[in-house]
Amino acid sequence: MKLWSGRFEKDTDALVNELNASIGFDQRLYREDIQGSLAHAAMLGECGIISTEDVSAITRGLTGILEDIKAGKVEFSAENEDIHMNIEALLTARIGDAGKRLHTARSRNDQVALDFRMYVRREIPVVTGQLLHLEKVLCRRARQNQNAVMPGYTHLQRAQPISFAQHLMAYAAQFRRDVTRLEDCARRLNECPLGSGALAGTTYPIDRMQTAAALGFDGPMGNSLDGVSDRDYALELLSALSIVMMHLSRLAEEVILWCSWEFKFVELDDAYATGSSIMPQKKNPDVAELVRGKTGRVYGDLMSLLTVMKGLPLAYNKDMQEDKEPVFDAVDTVELCLPAFAGMLDTMTVRTDNMRAAAGRGFINATDCADYLTKKGMPFRDAYTVVGRLVADCTARGKTLEELELEELKAVSDLFEKDVYEALKLENCMALRGSYGGPAVQETTRQIQEIEAFVKAREH
Ligand code: ARG
Repeated sequence: MKLWSGRFEKDTDALVNELNASIGFDQRLYREDIQGSLAHAAMLGECGIISTEDVSAITRGLTGILEDIKAGKVEFSAENEDIHMNIEALLTARIGDAGKRLHTARSRNDQVALDFRMYVRREIPVVTGQLLHLEKVLCRRARQNQNAVMPGYTHLQRAQPISFAQHLMAYAAQFRRDVTRLEDCARRLNECPLGSGALAGTTYPIDRMQTAAALGFDGPMGNSLDGVSDRDYALELLSALSIVMMHLSRLAEEVILWCSWEFKFVELDDAYATGSSIMPQKKNPDVAELVRGKTGRVYGDLMSLLTVMKGLPLAYNKDMQEDKEPVFDAVDTVELCLPAFAGMLDTMTVRTDNMRAAAGRGFINATDCADYLTKKGMPFRDAYTVVGRLVADCTARGKTLEELELEELKAVSDLFEKDVYEALKLENCMALRGSYGGPAVQETTRQIQEIEAFVKAREH
């Protein structure tokens, strides 16, 4: 018999039970549910709404249920719909009438709002912890490659010289913002919906400050309708996770390119690559490809919850039961991807020789050549044109700028002197880009130190 069967004369159709039940997925909220119920019961006792004997029985009963669930001894029933009713039914079966008093001054609406909020609050530090680990890996790999000249790209065309460290630290900056985005979400969500009741609060003299404090919230939510209706925090989490995946996916795309024979900037460790069932020579970057692929499902999770919430009138609507699976899926996906990706980056071999060779072709020192003339007095726009002509000439003759004789250079501008060859050396072009945020070693050192300090400040 259902907990809410009072006003019904017929049993629920089996298909309706199947559609209605969320126990298949919301059982993972059991810890939050029990924690919330313990706080609620303690408050009911202190406010004189139920007896202290009932509070003790409820506390003992819930603690036992928690242990039994953890030990895998509890079988949930679809008849009891969701985790909230399953636990309440178990409690009543174990302790009798006291169990039936637990739901005084509470609704499943504020109960689920509480449980889900606490779940999100619990998972955020797991994800930020993984992001911080990834930051450490990026810093370590960057430190090893501060002098590794590689071509920087725009439009996937070789553009200007950078270092591999500079490239990695760009991602480190992005993941750092991801961490702070998640921290913002955690700060904003930390208000307690418990005590909102079904939607309109309650006539019992409850103490919402007490339950909020007991459950580690900054305070209770100020409007009971909002308390049971808000899922912003889940959407913020999904947005932040989508952006994490977007960043990972961009780096994944680069790793995939870098692994190709066309680039060969990196070689993946055998533990982070896979083979082909037919082509014996293959070593595939599946980790990076799966991360890129799974980005789509996390975006999908965000879109599905945004769409569920759109157009829902206040307050609770059963549609909102659809909030959980996308969030669980996104959290599981990100928590699987982040450490695997970090491991892949940590163990890959960086082929600085191939990066340097690629940097040598593609005229990535052309800007430096124009800057050389500009520093000798030629207006930059004129220098740009002169070097453009040199590049066209070199392209036709299959040469690089630094392979031109001084006489050939002087033929287009008498400002060229012997020191131009130093100015065109890629190592110098990279090392002299010391503007704030640039690839020069002192600047990548600053970037690495800042990220390291950011990580350290979050390690307890
Ligand atoms: N399983 C439900 C959910 O996840 C719990 C809330 C049910 N409330 C209700 N009024 N039917 O949303």
